Amino acid sequence: METFGCQMNVADTDRMELLLFQAGYLRTPHVEEADLAIVNTCSIREKAEQKVFSLFGGLKPLKQSNPDLILGVAGCLAQQEQSVLMERIPFLDFVMGPDAVEDIQQIVSRVNQGEGPVLWTEFDSQKNYSIPEQTLVKDPGASAFVNIIKGCDKFCSFCVVPYTRGREKSREASEIYGEIRQLVDKGAKEIILLGQNVNAYGKRGLQQPVAFHELLYGIAEIPGVERLRFTTSHPMDFTRELIQAYRDIDILMNHLHLPVQCGSNRILELMRRSHTVEWYMDLIAQLKSEVPDIALSTDIIVGFPGETRQDFEGTLQLMEQVGFGSSYMFAYSPRPNTPALEMADDIPHEEKQERLQETIQLQNRLTEEKGRAFLGQEVEVLIERKTTRKGMSFKGRNPHYWSVVFKGGEDRLKPGDLARVRVEEVGGHVLRGSWAGQ
Ligand code: SAH
Ligand code: SF4
Ligand code: F3S
Repeated sequence: METFGCQMNVADTDRMELLLFQAGYLRTPHVEEADLAIVNTCSIREKAEQKVFSLFGGLKPLKQSNPDLILGVAGCLAQQEQSVLMERIPFLDFVMGPDAVEDIQQIVSRVNQGEGPVLWTEFDSQKNYSIPEQTLVKDPGASAFVNIIKGCDKFCSFCVVPYTRGREKSREASEIYGEIRQLVDKGAKEIILLGQNVNAYGKRGLQQPVAFHELLYGIAEIPGVERLRFTTSHPMDFTRELIQAYRDIDILMNHLHLPVQCGSNRILELMRRSHTVEWYMDLIAQLKSEVPDIALSTDIIVGFPGETRQDFEGTLQLMEQVGFGSSYMFAYSPRPNTPALEMADDIPHEEKQERLQETIQLQNRLTEEKGRAFLGQEVEVLIERKTTRKGMSFKGRNPHYWSVVFKGGEDRLKPGDLARVRVEEVGGHVLRGSWAGQ
């Protein structure tokens, strides 16, 4: 199994793997000995797509030397480009969309029974969003992702997700609580709620209506959950109650990833993000006044159609004003089916790359400034794993979601423990230090 794209895809791959184990398959790191190979794809930007095609180029000789090898494509690119994929990779055995993850056993068995290429990319609009018990993670580690909503109804003009993942559907709160209880029983200490747009939770598809902030309060009551996070949320669904939840819920960590995309009202409108710069800044100001030490991160797109130098400078200004601790920054990439495709992709490649470099440089400076503030401080780290690199002992994260590596405590600490760490060094988005003892 090879996975591209976001955490949703990682979670989908895990679930397909579990189902395939149940059907008798075993994992192998050597593709030469595989009976079945699946690439779980992403189509968010053109580059993600190209990676898939070049990967399949490499698989062709394998299929030639082992005609019994079953090859399939799953995920967002499969959903979007089923016929192109079948055409360009004629030796494919199946193409399945993200909604078909639970049907993987059936798909593979149909191929095994000699059915020609199997196509499985229909959305079942009647079906509620429920994750079957047998595909829940068995061995979560200290930090576990939990899907709470799928799909997206926002239709930002540049984005394929509403087309590849379909309409928004929330998962029943009782099912989410049940999964979290199981994860905690198996040793998870941190829960990260997952969805394309988590704070739209509860708007659609629930028999028992629950709003997103109510879900957070509900999870906070589950014994054993020591840290709670969520990703990704949309500014437009950010309620007053959600801000209050940050203040009220101790285990809700003081970090928020809130994509803004750009700092020009004109471009935001063309992007169909449905809010203005002022509206976003006001939301951030409210958050900071309730939760003064909240760490913020974001997504930025540069070079959207028609973006002038002035529009772009608005983005730099916004990044500086908010003071993001980190950002995911992208050059605009025109995508099939999206409304932005109708607009001329008029910013030359070099210009996009220059603007991208400028945002990266600015972000590096902001990250450095934020990092410096941790120097000499003690931070609480949830240990995720051991490490032996550079004389260090453990790796984990602090409440603000910075990676922390530290030395000391080998005979006292283990993954899943919370440890006090004194920060002695900062490099990029990683803090280094020593265990501060008990
Ligand atoms: N649901 C999340 C983000 C999903 S995609 C949200 O709305 O916040 C992750 C990021 O990829 C987006 O926030 C955006 O910054 C970027 N992205 C999406 N489509 C893109 C495109 N066509 N070109 C460049 N970046 C894109
Ligand atoms: Fe894409 Fe916008 Fe939905 Fe995020 S909110 S997944 S950017 S359409
Ligand atoms: Fe990519 Fe699909 Fe995720 S397009 S970013 S894998 S939702």
